[in-house]
Amino acid sequence: MAPRKIIIDTDPGQDDAVAILLALASPDEIDLLGITAVAGNVPLALTQKNARIVCELAGRRDVAVFAGCDRPLNRPLVTAEHVHGKTGLDGPTLPDPTMTLQDQHGVDFIIDTLRREPAGTVTLCALGPLTNLATALTRAPEIAEKIAEIILMGGAYFEVGNITPTAEFNIYVDPDAAKIVFQSGVPLVVMPLDVTHKALVTPARTAAFRDIATPVGDAVAEMTDFFERFDKEKYGSEGAPLHDPCVTAYLIQPDLFRGRHINVEIETTSELTMGMTVADWWGITDRPKNALFIGDIDAGGFFDLLTTRLARL
Ligand code: RIB
Ligand code: CA
Repeated sequence: MAPRKIIIDTDPGQDDAVAILLALASPDEIDLLGITAVAGNVPLALTQKNARIVCELAGRRDVAVFAGCDRPLNRPLVTAEHVHGKTGLDGPTLPDPTMTLQDQHGVDFIIDTLRREPAGTVTLCALGPLTNLATALTRAPEIAEKIAEIILMGGAYFEVGNITPTAEFNIYVDPDAAKIVFQSGVPLVVMPLDVTHKALVTPARTAAFRDIATPVGDAVAEMTDFFERFDKEKYGSEGAPLHDPCVTAYLIQPDLFRGRHINVEIETTSELTMGMTVADWWGITDRPKNALFIGDIDAGGFFDLLTTRLARL
C-alpha cells in the first residue's frame, strides 16, 4: 500500500516532537509533504524553530517547514510554558536549526497542496490549536471536500479538561477555529485526553527510549523526563501522557485504538466552559455524527511501535 500523504500542523512541544519523529521514522506508511507551525504551547517564533530542530535531530533537513498563524482567530494567545518550558522543547540540549524556514505562509501551503493533490489523497494531522486549518478552510472552502481526513489531538469528555476544568488546551486556545473544523464536514478522527491519558510514559518506557542509545532515543527520554513532571504533580500519574504521537500512531497502526463515531460540538459562548468538546457519547441527540472520538488504546502496543520506530532514526 502506498504511503499516506500528510501535512503535520503542530506547536512543538515535546509530545509534538515525538509525533513528528515517529512520522519521519515511518516512510512506508507516511509521506510527509510538509510541517506547518502554529502558535500554541509557545509563540510561533519558537514553534517554527522547534519544528526545524526536530527535523534536524532526525537528520531530515529536507523537510519543508512553514510558519502559520501567530495567534488564534479571535482570542488572545494562551501558551503553556508551565508544561513545556520557556523554549517549548525543554529537556534535551539541542542545537539551533540551520535548515531554512519556508517563505510561504503555512496556511497558503495547506491550501495550495490540497488544490494540487488529487481529492482524497491528503490527510491533515493537527497536533496544536486549529487556527491554521480553520483559516485555510475559511479562505478556501472548496478544499474541505478534497481533504481525506483530519486526525487531531484535542478535546476531552470523560477525562475533563487540562487547561480549565472543562477544556483541553488545543481546543481552548482557539475554540472558534475548532468550531470551524468540527463543522467542516471533513471526516475527523479525534484523540482526546480520554485516550492520551492512557498513553503514559512510565519509567520503564523512558528507560526503553534511553536503551535505544542514539541521539534521538536520548533526546526523547530527556523530553519526556522534563514533560512528565507537570502531569505527575497534577494527576499523580506515573508518567507523561504522550498526547500527539497518538495521532501519528493511528496513521501507522489504527487497530491500536478504539472509539465511537459520535457528534462533537465546541463551546464558543460561555467563558465558564469555553473550548469544551461536548461529546454526545451516548447518542442522546440527533446531531450529525461528525467525529470518530477515540476512547481507548493498547498502550503496550503503542509504546512498542514508538520505541521500535524511533530506533530507526
Ligand atoms: O492538551 C495537550 C495538547 O496541548 C498537546 O498537543 C500538547 O502538545 C499541547 O499542544
Ligand atoms: Ca501539541
